[in-house]
Amino acid sequence: MSTSDLFSSDVSTAARAAALREQLHHHADRYHTLDDPEIPDVEYDRLFRELQALEAQHPELLTPDSPTQRVGGRVLDELVAVRHRVPMLSINTETDTEPSGALKFDSRVRRALGLKETDPPVAYVAELKFDGLAMSLRYEQGVLVLAATRGDGEVGEDVTHNLRTVKSVPLRLPQDVPPVLEVRGEVYMRRDDFDALNERQRTRIAAGAKGEKTFVNPRNAAAGAVRQHDSGIAAQRPLSFFAYGLGEVTPPDQGGPEFGTHFDMLMSLKVWGFPVAEQTTLCTGAEELVAFHQRIGAVRDQLPYDIDGVVYKVNSLALQQQLGFVSREPRWAVAHKYPAQEQLTTVLAIDVQVGRTGKLTPVAKLAPVFVGGVTVTNATLHNEDEARRKDVRVGDTVIVRRAGDVIPEVVSVLVDRRNSADAAVFSMPRQCPVCGSAAVREEGEADYRCTGGLFCGAQRKQAILHFAQRRAVEVEGLGDKLVEQLVDAGLVKTLPDLYRLGFAALAQLERMADKSAQNIVAALEKSKQTTLPRFLFGLGIRHVGETTAKDLARHFGGLDRIMDASTEQLLAVNDVGPVVAQSVRTFFDQPHNREVVEQLRACGLRWEEGEPAERAPQPLAGKTFVLTGTFPNLSRDASKDLLEAAGAKVASSVSKKTDYVVAGAEAGSKLEKAQALGVTVIDEATMLALLRS
Ligand code: IVH
Repeated sequence: MSTSDLFSSDVSTAARAAALREQLHHHADRYHTLDDPEIPDVEYDRLFRELQALEAQHPELLTPDSPTQRVGGRVLDELVAVRHRVPMLSINTETDTEPSGALKFDSRVRRALGLKETDPPVAYVAELKFDGLAMSLRYEQGVLVLAATRGDGEVGEDVTHNLRTVKSVPLRLPQDVPPVLEVRGEVYMRRDDFDALNERQRTRIAAGAKGEKTFVNPRNAAAGAVRQHDSGIAAQRPLSFFAYGLGEVTPPDQGGPEFGTHFDMLMSLKVWGFPVAEQTTLCTGAEELVAFHQRIGAVRDQLPYDIDGVVYKVNSLALQQQLGFVSREPRWAVAHKYPAQEQLTTVLAIDVQVGRTGKLTPVAKLAPVFVGGVTVTNATLHNEDEARRKDVRVGDTVIVRRAGDVIPEVVSVLVDRRNSADAAVFSMPRQCPVCGSAAVREEGEADYRCTGGLFCGAQRKQAILHFAQRRAVEVEGLGDKLVEQLVDAGLVKTLPDLYRLGFAALAQLERMADKSAQNIVAALEKSKQTTLPRFLFGLGIRHVGETTAKDLARHFGGLDRIMDASTEQLLAVNDVGPVVAQSVRTFFDQPHNREVVEQLRACGLRWEEGEPAERAPQPLAGKTFVLTGTFPNLSRDASKDLLEAAGAKVASSVSKKTDYVVAGAEAGSKLEKAQALGVTVIDEATMLALLRS
C-alpha cells in the first residue's frame, strides 16, 4: 500500500466500500429480519471487518447508514416495537482465537485503568458466549411483563408471548426481588432439541406440508421461534435461556439491590431462579482467562448447546463504571472467539468411497478451507438420500461444518450462488467405483453397497484381516501392518494370493526379517487345515457372524450345498431370517466370490464335511449363557461350541435375560453383575451336566 492510499481513496476503493455496504445490508436483513441467513456468520464477519478496515483507512468513505454504524436489524411491522429503558449493548469481539486474544484484552483494561506492571492483577468473570439471541426480560413486582429482542439495541420487539413458552424463563420470581428487574441474557436452542425439530420438519415436508423448511443451525431455528407471531408454534420449538446481565433495576435508594461485583449479581440471579451457566468462573489476571479459554475450548463440543467463544467481564462494577464505553461497546468486556465450526467453500467433485463392508459413501471434495481448527478438503454427504436432500452439486458454494473430531459435513448449499445451472443432480453409481461390481441398495436401507466382496480392492485389506483372524482360519502374525504392505505392494489382491506368497516374496518386504517371513509361511500352511464354520465366517459375508456360520455348516454339512441353496432352503436354517438368507444368496451369486472359494480350495484349504444334519437334539434351546473366568478343563471357545451345538445362545454380557452364568477361576465383573441381578451362577461341571441332560 502506498502512502497516498492512507489519505485519499481511489474509485475502486470507494466502489468496494459501497459494494460491501450493499452486501452487508442484504445479509443483515436476511439474518435479523427474515431469520433466513444465506451465509454463515463468519462470512458476514469477514465482510464486516473488511468494511471496518476500509472505513478506518479512508474515513471519508464512512456513510451514516453504513452497517458498521448500527448493530442489529430493523423491526418487523407485525411485532410491536419496544424502546429499551437501558440500551442493550454490543460487545467488542476479539477474533484472535489464540490465547493472545485474552492477553490483549487484559492489557487494554490495565492501560485504561492506569495500572502499572507492579499493580495486582484485575479480577474478571469468564462466561460462555452463547450462540443464540440477546433477550431482555422485564419483571415488575416479580412478574414477567415483557420479553423483548435486542433489535438495534435501542428499540427491540415485544416477544413476550413466545418467551412465556420457554421453560427456563421464570414467569414469577420470589418475594424479595427488586420491584423492577430487567434480566438480560441469551435465548438459544439446545442441539438435541434442534435435531429433533429438524427431524419433525423433515417428516412434515415428506408428508407434503406446505411452507415448512428445515433450519440451518440452532441459532437460526431459535431466531425463527422467538419471532413467531403464533406462540403455539414457538412452543413446539423448544428454547432455553441463560442469564448474564441486567438492564433497568430499581436503584438502591428506592429499595433496589446494591451489588459490588458482576459475580455477586450473577449469583443473585441464580438465587432468583434464572439459569446461569455453571461454567461461569471468577478469574484473576490474564493467565486465568487464557486457562478458561483453553479449558472451555476442550469441552466445547460436549456442551449440549453451541457457543462461539467466551466472554470476559471486569468483575468490579466500580471499575466497570470507570472504564465506560467506546461507541456502543463497553471497555470492560470482550468476546473471545473460537475457530469457527462453519465455513464457506466450493465443491470440486463428488466422489464415492467404499468402506470396509462395501458401504458406498458420497464424499464432497472441497476447495481447502480452514474450519474447526483444521484444513478440510473432504466432507461426507452420508448417503444418496442426504446428498439429494441437500441437493449438493459440483461447483456449488456450500457451508461445511466440523465440530470436534467429528467427520466434516456439508450443512447446506447456497443455491442462490449456483451459476453452473447445468451441474447434475447427484446420483449414486449403480456400479462400485473401485471394482465395478453391482452396487445395490436393499429395501429399507439408506446405503448402497458394493456386492464385489472379496474381489473389491477397497474391501480387500479388511477382508484379508477378517479372514486371517483367530476366530476365522487364523493366520498367526498376519496383522494390519503386514496386510497393508502386501496389498499396497500389489502382492495380494484376493484371498488365494495369500497362499501363493512364497518365502521370497515375504522376505523382500521392508522391515521383514527372514525368521518372520518363515513364521508367516508356516502360519499360512497351518491355516489350511480348518473347519467349515471358520472358513465360512472368514469369507466375511454380510450378516454371517460366527454363530450363523456354525448354523449354516451344521444344517447343510458341506460348502457346495450352502453355495447352491435357494433363499427358501436357507430360511430353513436355525435362526436364519430373510436378511441373512438374502445376504448369503447375494454373496454366492457373484461369480467372483465363487472363484475365490474355488481357488482357496485349489490352494489346499480343507475341512471336514458331513451330511446335512438331521437336527441334533437341542436340550438347551432357548437358553442364554454367559461365560466368565477360566474353567478347569474346557477352553472358553470349546465351551461355547458345545453350548451352541446344544441349541443355547452364548452372549458376551450379563443381563436380566441371561439364564446361566458359567463362572471359572478369576471371574470378574460379569459374576458380580450376575449376583446383583439374581442370575443363576454355575461351574463347569454343572454346565457339562446340563449339556448331557
Ligand atoms: S454481555 C455489555 N455475555 O453476544 C455486554 N453477551 O455482541 C452485553 N452473548 O448481543 C452482552 N453470551 O447476544 C454477554 N455471556 C454473555 C453472552 C453474550 C452471548 C451475545 C449477546 C450479545 C452478543 C455480543
